[in-house]
Amino acid sequence: MKIEEVKKKVKLSVHWLPRPASKYHGSYPLGFENLIVDKLGTKNIIHFFCGSSKLGYCIDINPDVKPDLVANVENLKQIPDNTFEAGLADPPYTKKFARDLYNCEYPQWSKWVNELVRIVKVGGLVAIMHNYPQPKPKNTNYVEVISILCRIKQYTKVVSIFRKTSQAAQRMSKEMCAACE
Ligand SMILES: C[S@@+](CC[C@H](N)C(=O)[O-])C[C@H]1O[C@@H](n2cnc3c(N)ncnc32)[C@H](O)[C@@H]1O
Repeated sequence: MKIEEVKKKVKLSVHWLPRPASKYHGSYPLGFENLIVDKLGTKNIIHFFCGSSKLGYCIDINPDVKPDLVANVENLKQIPDNTFEAGLADPPYTKKFARDLYNCEYPQWSKWVNELVRIVKVGGLVAIMHNYPQPKPKNTNYVEVISILCRIKQYTKVVSIFRKTSQAAQRMSKEMCAACE
């Protein structure tokens, strides 16, 4: 698919944020938190894998970073469905990073993504930072992909943003697509 065709479906943007916000491994680039609040349109954010960041309601498995909740984000049954206006996640990007940098197991993508989408209200945005664009989680649509250029010799970060749809809306759009074919 040509870039012009991608741009018709998903907004693409590039930012240059060359400094890290803290000394914590994998910390957000300085300025990222303001940027993402702007993109998500709210500070009422459930924040998975928060690390040193204090944005929104912070959850991390590492008690040393003093999050609002110390928990494994693969299972958060204590938080009801549709609780927060938006969601944000910055997981360890590889098994090796999980083990060597954070001394933890590599979290299972489908488990924590399902939890993140479940906790966000229908219509709310969900942002996932990684080093490549993310597959579309169930019950969401693509909204935007942001490429963040960091320091020299540091990998670019990619933030994929999705909008949570109701299951009924997803079913209807699939049915409409099928009717058009
Ligand atoms: C890439 S770092 C996030 C850094 C953060 N963006 C910052 O600015 O400091 C990933 C974080 O995920 C946490 N983590 C790893 N597995 C987890 C899990 N299953 N549940 C919750 N947190 C987890 C680690 O403790 C680490 O703080």
